[in-house]
Amino acid sequence: MTQVLCVAGARPNFMKIAPVMAALAETGIAAQLLHTGQHYDAAMSDSFFADLGIPQPDHHLEVGSASHAVQTAEVMKRFEPVLDRVQPQAVLVVGDVNSTIACALVAAKRGVRVIHVEAGLRSYDRAMPEEINRVLTDQLSDLLFTTEKSALANLTREGIDPARVVFVGNVMIDTLHRNLARAVPAATTLGSAVDAYAVLTLHRPSNVDDPDTLAALLDVIAGINRQLPVVAPLHPRTRANIEKFGLTDKLDGLRVLPPVGYLEMLGLMRDAKLVLTDSGGLQEETTALGVPCLTLRENTERPITLDEGTNTLVGPSPVAIRRAFDDVMNNGGKRGRIPEYWDGRAAMRIAHALKGWLPMQKGLRAA
Ligand code: UD1
Repeated sequence: MTQVLCVAGARPNFMKIAPVMAALAETGIAAQLLHTGQHYDAAMSDSFFADLGIPQPDHHLEVGSASHAVQTAEVMKRFEPVLDRVQPQAVLVVGDVNSTIACALVAAKRGVRVIHVEAGLRSYDRAMPEEINRVLTDQLSDLLFTTEKSALANLTREGIDPARVVFVGNVMIDTLHRNLARAVPAATTLGSAVDAYAVLTLHRPSNVDDPDTLAALLDVIAGINRQLPVVAPLHPRTRANIEKFGLTDKLDGLRVLPPVGYLEMLGLMRDAKLVLTDSGGLQEETTALGVPCLTLRENTERPITLDEGTNTLVGPSPVAIRRAFDDVMNNGGKRGRIPEYWDGRAAMRIAHALKGWLPMQKGLRAA
């Protein structure tokens, strides 16, 4: 009998599900893996399965790209019959992508317990699709595993019983620990040694979907690049928008790469002087690596990276980005310390908690 049906769909899910699957196997919890197919390019999906040793999915929904409504609905439509067939005791979802909320909603309505890994993070910005996914997934979840202590206060404010919340630490950092020694050196990825460089990633709709905002960001990046070479692995959405808005010239001089694999990205970050990003995951990974991070967003749902880590919230304003960059160049940037339980053992804490929790769950299944 499958006890836990684990769900992954998009790139940031894969490094979270990898240690969870491994810990479930190690503790003898019968699990299956379902891939929704939200991300499907080899560089956005397959390479992560190979690099991180994630077992081949037992189920694949192949939903692909679409509007938020259509993508979420397609996951739901295709997930329900699989759930009915597998009849797991619980569905485990990670993170905050459309696949996360879609599968949580189907499971909750079928009376199957929902477990959320990385619960309780809040940017308090409903313009972010992920924020809506986070709030709703947490409301639907029976057991909520958190990465940082601020999450409990957020969940309590939303009426969630603290007894269902367990602080376990950060599974993405488990993956980082497990793979750091295998990280591909930056010189290998770039094809030549580079003394000092910055890494840039951009893909949030708020930064890349508006032509003026994107153009202004690329201009300030071009200025930074004249002082410190900028390496930019581009998300397909960003690449497509740069072409659509006629901004390709603004990439001149940057070391532009296609989306890189996990081990390449880890090496690029580890060896970088700083990281400029709007990704949630990179804010945490740079904190774990002790590399200064400038976050090109107005807010973050991961405040511990600001309070204890190496992250600085800079926003999208070119003046603020330039000032923060100069500060890193002159003063070396934030040092930071490693947050509690970002120690490589978060997934084992989850598996141990599940060992106790799963047998206590009575059948709830909807007719
Ligand atoms: C999704 C997540 C976001 C996460 C990001 C990481 C949601 C709401 N957003 O955003 O939280 O940070 O993944 O990558 O779930 N595309 C490809 N190949 C792929 C996947 C996507 O070319 O394998 C292109 C398509 O043009 C697609 C676009 O990227 O329309 C956006 O993909 P989508 O999954 O809708 O959202 P992301 O921006 O990737």
